[in-house]
Amino acid sequence: MTQRMTLITSACYVPESKLEKIDDLQELFTGPQPLNLEIGCGIGDFIVQLAEKNPEQNFIAIDIFNRGCDQTSRRIDLAGLTNVRVLRTEARSLLLQHVKPQSLRAIYINCPDPWPKKRHRKRRLVNSDFLKIALHCLEEGGDFNFSTDFVDYGIEVGELLMAEPGFDNCHHTAYVHDLGDYPISKYMRRFLDLGQPIYYSHYQRQPGYVAAPPPAPVKGFRLRWAKESG
Ligand SMILES: C[S@@+](CC[C@H](N)C(=O)[O-])C[C@H]1O[C@@H](n2cnc3c(N)ncnc32)[C@H](O)[C@@H]1O
Repeated sequence: MTQRMTLITSACYVPESKLEKIDDLQELFTGPQPLNLEIGCGIGDFIVQLAEKNPEQNFIAIDIFNRGCDQTSRRIDLAGLTNVRVLRTEARSLLLQHVKPQSLRAIYINCPDPWPKKRHRKRRLVNSDFLKIALHCLEEGGDFNFSTDFVDYGIEVGELLMAEPGFDNCHHTAYVHDLGDYPISKYMRRFLDLGQPIYYSHYQRQPGYVAAPPPAPVKGFRLRWAKESG
């Protein structure tokens, strides 16, 4: 994967070289507050809405694409937010290497790459191994939010979450289409405007649940990606 790299100078952007020296993601903020993670932040419109609504919480927004990190950082600066940090990193690498067990208040994943071709489905980010990693990182009662426009991904993840004993369902069905006051991302907006439903799953880590050690990282798609040059 070749990316044209833009130098991101925003103070909310954390370069990879700095991330490597950090033991606890809370060190990236001026004060400890509940910590939330958005995976695949795209242009940053979702995280800005969420962080504006919750100034008493801290937010990490990640994307593997430098351009997305640049756009997200600019949006955060424009909104004058001080409770968000942006990282260019891969979700599983971050969760397994830099996130302390039970340290996340919530995880948000919106419209992840759907990999519609059958032979590419194994590239999808969210599967049962990923849910075990998420359970390991979420605090008791921590929220797992997943939304997609892609029917079979939405059904599959809803069913995986229902079957996972560490998660309690916040709704009565595996997924819902009513988003309530959940912020709308760029991709969600695109599909809603076309009259297509969003499949939204909201689950919480069961209080008292003893999570198994997370599965060992599997070398695979997206886990090897170009390092930043500057
Ligand atoms: C289809 S876009 C959706 C963007 C945004 N969430 C939205 O709903 O508008 C998916 C995003 O996830 C990012 N992404 C894909 N795989 C990722 C991974 N393993 N770790 C971090 N980001 C990832 C992509 O670079 C892309 O920006």
